[in-house]
Amino acid sequence: VLVVRRRMRSSGKWAMAEAILRELEEKCATPTAKLRRVADAMMVEMHAGLAIEGGSKLKMLISYVDNLPTGNEKGLFYALDLGGTNFRVMRVQLGGKENAIKQEFDEVSIPPQLMTSSSNDLFDFIAEALARFVATEADDFHLPPGRQRELGFTFSFPVRQLSLASGTLINWTKGFLIEDAIGQDVVGELTKAMERVGLDMRVTALVNDTVGTLAGGRYSNPDVVAAVILGTGTNAAYVERAHAIPKWQGLLPKSGEMVINMEWGNFRSSHLPLTVYDYTLDADSLNPGDQIFEKLISGMYLGEIVRIVLCTMAEKASFFGDTIPPKLNIPFILRTPDMSAMHHDTSPDLKVVGSKLKDILEVPNSCLTMRKIVVAICDIVATRGARLSAAGIVGILTKLERDVPKEGEKPPRSVIALDGGLFEHYTKFRECMKATIEELLEEVSDSVVIEHSNDGSGIGAALLAASHSQYLEVEEE
Ligand code: GLC
Repeated sequence: VLVVRRRMRSSGKWAMAEAILRELEEKCATPTAKLRRVADAMMVEMHAGLAIEGGSKLKMLISYVDNLPTGNEKGLFYALDLGGTNFRVMRVQLGGKENAIKQEFDEVSIPPQLMTSSSNDLFDFIAEALARFVATEADDFHLPPGRQRELGFTFSFPVRQLSLASGTLINWTKGFLIEDAIGQDVVGELTKAMERVGLDMRVTALVNDTVGTLAGGRYSNPDVVAAVILGTGTNAAYVERAHAIPKWQGLLPKSGEMVINMEWGNFRSSHLPLTVYDYTLDADSLNPGDQIFEKLISGMYLGEIVRIVLCTMAEKASFFGDTIPPKLNIPFILRTPDMSAMHHDTSPDLKVVGSKLKDILEVPNSCLTMRKIVVAICDIVATRGARLSAAGIVGILTKLERDVPKEGEKPPRSVIALDGGLFEHYTKFRECMKATIEELLEEVSDSVVIEHSNDGSGIGAALLAASHSQYLEVEEE
């Protein structure tokens, strides 16, 4: 009798967990028709954001990049890439069309306390690392005598550009919050820090990572029309016709084009499948109400959503037994790479899931039913994110009118340069995103190509620094 009762109790427990799971699945559902509405809403917001400043939650920031790299860029340039938990410093010797690029880089992780410290603390740390890196420059990199070193600065947060080489920070995202930097010219802040550490270097281009990736992507493939980052955060940039940007007050660029940094992470629409778990995540975040699209899709948040779902299961369905594992209450303890590892577990007894639950949440004995439910949660959350990011890409292609074939014409090839850890390492996410793009594009799906642009943003920033070098005119004369 005892055994049967125990069995009944435990099957009752799973029934409750499964009910929660089913409801999650329902609320996260992204059928094709819904995704089309999301893509259309994205396109509508793009128009609104281009029309007037503040016209949409999509900032549609003007990058001042009106010429993408040609391949003729030459010389030694530095790049600095700041935008996640690590930053990279890099030097690139550009050799024009005839010589290959030579590059070296170093990666430094940012001490977490600096992400919420002061502007000076953050920029001093960066400038010091950069100065150390510059000191290791060997003879095979050539800086002509009498020249100042130049830097392309990839700063992956929303910036209102004042020119290609200056811009003020609008707000922080992705877990950074340094109040005194908001509204400041980030190039000015970096330049002052470089002076403080005695580094003589000039910032000649300030770019978002999406813009850098677009520039780097275009350098190796002329069909690149947009770039998307799926990493800690998510965002997209694309090449817009300058006359389609009503809010642009400047002269029409010669190329007739302008790269737009969409800041799509801040996209929001009533068509987004939001759940109570997303509301909880948002309310407890550093930027409540902002970056809602990003909070559904990007690497910083996917694991956290899974954790919040598990918390509810623990409370309402005693999923982990009579007590809630204390570790489960720690925000961000379940990282997206761990979620990915569990999601990709192919062993029959879901060994990886078991060991992750044990190591991270200190749940010593998980049975197969429990492990399967955990995998199902990962699948629902990742699938929703991947399908929504596909809808975002289709929104851009719709805006560019590359989503349906023109009568009697062969559709143009549209290459989207993709980068970021989530895209690179979370295979199921990547595959699902690609398949969803095909599903949504139907007829033209053959002409749309997703290309991984590995660390294109650093090279892209260096290329833009080169094409805007202070010495360029002297050289051209
Ligand atoms: C966040 C930033 C954005 C960046 C993206 C990817 O959304 O606001 O500027 O491009 O993350 O790093």
